[in-house]
Amino acid sequence: MIFYFSGTGNSRYTAEKIGGAINEKVIDMARSRIDEQFTFEVKDQEKIGFVFPVYYYGPPTIVEEFMSKLKIYGNEHPYVYVIMTCGSNSGGADKYADKILLDQGLETEAFFTIPMVDNFIMGYDLSDEEDRKSINKRAEERIDKIIKSIIVRGASDRKSSHFDQLLTGTVYPIYLRGRKTKKFFADDRCISCNLCEEICPAQAIKMVDGRPVWVLDQCVHCVACINRCPAESIQYGDATKKRRRYVHPSIVE
Ligand SMILES: Cc1cc2nc3c(=O)[nH]c(=O)nc-3n(C[C@H](O)[C@H](O)[C@H](O)COP(=O)(O)O)c2cc1C
Ligand code: SF4
Ligand code: SF4
Repeated sequence: MIFYFSGTGNSRYTAEKIGGAINEKVIDMARSRIDEQFTFEVKDQEKIGFVFPVYYYGPPTIVEEFMSKLKIYGNEHPYVYVIMTCGSNSGGADKYADKILLDQGLETEAFFTIPMVDNFIMGYDLSDEEDRKSINKRAEERIDKIIKSIIVRGASDRKSSHFDQLLTGTVYPIYLRGRKTKKFFADDRCISCNLCEEICPAQAIKMVDGRPVWVLDQCVHCVACINRCPAESIQYGDATKKRRRYVHPSIVE
C-alpha cells in the first residue's frame, strides 16, 4: 500500500509508477483526510510506502496530520519506506517523518529522496522546458533504482546529518506558522472552470460568482491551484505574475 500527497504531480507520478511496478494499491492522503479515513488493513507481505514533496525541509501539513492519525492493522512487521520528492534538498524531513511514524508504531526501514522539478513558484521562477526534461529524465532513472531496492526490502539511501536536522528545526516552523492565503487572487483571465476549487487538498477555495475565493486563513501551500490553473490566472501577490508554471507531464486536467 502506498500513501501519497502531491500538489503538482511529481509525487503522485512517483507513487503510481511504484504502485504499478510492485502491484500495490496507491492512496491519496488528501482524499483520505477529507473522507476521515485513517485506518487501513495491510496484508501479510504487503509493504507500506509514503511518497510526498518536501516543504521547507519537512513534510506538508496534510502529510503530518495523516501520519499522526494513521492506524494500520493486519501486518505485525511491515516493510515501511518513505520517499521524499524535492527540488534539491530534503534537509531533515526523513528524521521528522520517522518520529511521527514511530509514534504510530511504524518503524521505517528505508528513506529515499528524488530530486524533481522544483515547483516553489512563490519563492522564485521555475526551470525552463529544457531543464525540466533533463531533471525528469534523471528522476525517472532514480525511481527505477528505488523500485529495485523496494522489491528486495532494501535499506535507506538518505540519512540526514545533524546539520540537516538543524535546518529543519529552524526553517520548517516558518512554514507551519505561515502558509497564509491572503496573497492569493485570480486575475481577469479566470475562465470560471472550477478546477482550483476541485483540486485544493485543503478545501481552502470556494467559487463565488464564478471566481475563486480563499476562505481559509491558512492552507497547505501545495501550489496546485497556482500551477494548474489553465488560464494562469492565479497569483500570489505580484511576484508570480511573470513566473513560469509547472505540472508534471503525467497530469492531464
Ligand atoms: C511550499 C514549498 C516548499 C518547498 N520546499 C522545498 C525544500 O525545502 N527543499 C526542496 O528541495 N524542495 C522544496 N520544494 C519543492 C518541492 O518539494 C518539489 O518540487 C516536489 O517534487 C513537488 O512535488 P509535487 O509535484 O508532488 O507537489 C518546495 C515546494 C513548495 C511548494
Ligand atoms: S482554475 Fe483558474 S480559470 Fe479555473 S476557476 Fe480557478 S482561477 Fe478560474
Ligand atoms: S489554496 Fe492552492 S496552494 Fe493552498 S492548499 Fe489549496 S491548492 Fe494548495
